[in-house]
Amino acid sequence: EFCKTSEIKEILYKVLVVGNFGVGKTSVIRRYTSGIFSPHYKLTIGVDFALKTLIWDEHTKINMQLWDIAGHERFGHMTRVYYKYAIAAIIVFDLTRLVCVMCGIHRCCLWGLSILIILILFFPLFYFRQPTFDAVQKWLDDVRQKVVLENDEPVPVLLLANKCDLDNTTAQVDQSKLDQYCEDHNLIGWFPTSAKDNTNIEEAMSFLIEKIMQIS
Ligand code: GTP
Ligand code: MG
Repeated sequence: EFCKTSEIKEILYKVLVVGNFGVGKTSVIRRYTSGIFSPHYKLTIGVDFALKTLIWDEHTKINMQLWDIAGHERFGHMTRVYYKYAIAAIIVFDLTRLVCVMCGIHRCCLWGLSILIILILFFPLFYFRQPTFDAVQKWLDDVRQKVVLENDEPVPVLLLANKCDLDNTTAQVDQSKLDQYCEDHNLIGWFPTSAKDNTNIEEAMSFLIEKIMQIS
């Protein structure tokens, strides 16, 4: 009888964290699970795991198992295996690169061959500034294709616009556009986040957990 009073339900949630390379997936996860941030980029190879245990309320303990999937993995063959039994997904993109897309890399292509040559010459530069918001759509398609809930419903997907600490990026984000995007594509919502400054990380994760608890 004494034991009954301390009965706690323990739940495990597998959550995927996806997005292009370098957008800050590992940083967001490390900030959330260990409270630390490193400015040095160490790319993830394949997949990494992190666990966060939360005492949600007096009866519930939640183990968030975060699957940190390397940015280049969408082109790999393993994602279907990685995605199995996931209950939710987080798509991360880099706010600073959104600005770059908005100013129109695609339009540049219309300028003809001379621009093309410049593009080739500066290839590494453009490579690192590839439009990650386009990538959001690709990652979303990937998640939708490869994972569904037990009842065949789509998994809840949260969008994180990361690196909001960097210069005047938040001001340039079209918030209503992102709201609209989430509505159109059935995402549960989006947050501007910074793994560096610890902005909205806890808030975003709690928001996701609440959504997961509503469906499970
Ligand atoms: P892959 O493992 O290659 O897919 O990359 P990733 O998405 O895990 O990126 P990672 O977390 O390794 O971060 C890439 C770089 O961005 C690192 O140098 C981080 O320090 C930096 N970074 C991540 N989050 C933030 C942020 O919120 N603000 C700033 N200023 N830099 C960040
Ligand atoms: Mg990583």
